[in-house]
Amino acid sequence: MKIMHIDSSAKIAEKSSSRMLGKFFLEQLKEQGVDIEIDYLDLTKDIQPHLTPEFVVATYKPENERTPEMKKALMASDAMCQRVIHADALVCAMPMYNWTIPSTFKTFIDTIIRTGVTYDLFPDGTTKGKLTNKKVLFITTRGADLRSGVFEHMDAMTPVLKASFGFLGVNNPEFVNAQPLQFSDQESRQQALARAKEDLTTVAKQWSETV
Ligand SMILES: Cc1cc2nc3c(=O)[nH]c(=O)nc-3n(C[C@H](O)[C@H](O)[C@H](O)COP(=O)(O)O)c2cc1C
Repeated sequence: MKIMHIDSSAKIAEKSSSRMLGKFFLEQLKEQGVDIEIDYLDLTKDIQPHLTPEFVVATYKPENERTPEMKKALMASDAMCQRVIHADALVCAMPMYNWTIPSTFKTFIDTIIRTGVTYDLFPDGTTKGKLTNKKVLFITTRGADLRSGVFEHMDAMTPVLKASFGFLGVNNPEFVNAQPLQFSDQESRQQALARAKEDLTTVAKQWSETV
């Protein structure tokens, strides 16, 4: 199974819960006997650029009408789209920052949503995502506990991930949300990590049965 493994925590590996949980999941897959090949992307080191005027013009021009400059503006995005397309599965680990996804993951989304490459746009205005055959797992880590209580309505990361990947044809992504990892006592943090590991082990088993 070719897996694109994506990290986006601003913390270094030894201190990051999302990085640790992503690694844990891949180890569980191996333990389940899945033969995995990893394409690793650290979005804090390989930061995808914000959209530019050149990119916006080029992306909506039909391929055969693009100038060399337009092709150049899309080159990095073309390459990233191919990495995504070639993966059987995406494992995306990320912390919640200010109630939503890290901005580095947002520019990654902007980089891989491409007409004619990762989704089709038809003359009648309808669209169809092309990533329908991929398994996608989002591992999110949160300082607060958004499962209930005062922060319950504050989750602005799940909707954006579901919408953008759903648009690309990923209809049933898996979510494992580890929470609370910061705004709580030590015992609750340990329990949150244990719950997340249990859920990741379950997802690894499910994936191993459908490879
Ligand atoms: C800049 C910053 C903003 C954060 N914003 C939120 C937030 O809005 N809600 C929340 O529950 N936790 C928030 N947190 C806490 C992190 O989501 C939490 O500590 C998470 O476990 C970090 O994952 P990591 O260890 O992989 O970096 C924030 C942390 C940082 C550094």
